[in-house]
Amino acid sequence: MKTLERVISKAGLGSRTEARGWIGAGRVSVNKRVIQNPDHWVDMELDKVHFDGKPLEKKEHIYLMLYKPKGYLTTYKDPERRPTVYDLLQDVGTFVVPVGRLDLDTSGLLLLTNDTQFAERIMNPEFHVAKRYLVKANRLLTDEELGRLRNGLELEDGPTRPAFVKRARDSEKYTHFEITITEGRNRQVRRMVEALGSVVLKLVRVAIGPLGIGELNVGKWRYLEPSERARLMPQRSLARKASTRLT
Ligand code: URA
Repeated sequence: MKTLERVISKAGLGSRTEARGWIGAGRVSVNKRVIQNPDHWVDMELDKVHFDGKPLEKKEHIYLMLYKPKGYLTTYKDPERRPTVYDLLQDVGTFVVPVGRLDLDTSGLLLLTNDTQFAERIMNPEFHVAKRYLVKANRLLTDEELGRLRNGLELEDGPTRPAFVKRARDSEKYTHFEITITEGRNRQVRRMVEALGSVVLKLVRVAIGPLGIGELNVGKWRYLEPSERARLMPQRSLARKASTRLT
């Protein structure tokens, strides 16, 4: 819910002071009734606002990043009532959709927005938006195995695209590595590791395109800066170049 004054100014029509003036002058209606109180509450999902008789179409887009914890579903409602990412977004105030999904047991960077065009573009595999993950495998992986992840391997839904793969460290029993993929298939990283006969013990998404998770704490969210959103918006030709550079 937002005040009418905010709705009018956020629609890009003018400043908040101007909006107050227009509302006071009777130029704004809500559900066909002229409202002259700038503090009148409006729900842009339900209410029809008109300015000088024309529908107000432009809604304010919001873009945010959440550090999804392990154990939260990327879904709106779960029949089993398990925690969902929406439990962490109760103070957002507008309905937002996730830009892609993270598995229940995956943590890390999740983008959410009410701008469906933006979401579709980021998720569209044609745009090759890079997603970077940190992975802990359940055993030591050889250079040859990391090479198979890098070059692409066969999964049941087809071969994977070339990926950027870098060993981070080996502990006594486990390999930790970084992988950047430009697709977003279901459980893709887990399935790629399983194709090697290994299992992912820990998976964290740390970046989407140029946007890293930074200092955000687990379970917390913040709005994207306009410049961050602009940098995320992939251009078809640049996206292709970025993906060829991965190899
Ligand atoms: N790959 C996976 O296997 N899981 C995720 O959540 C994201 C990428």
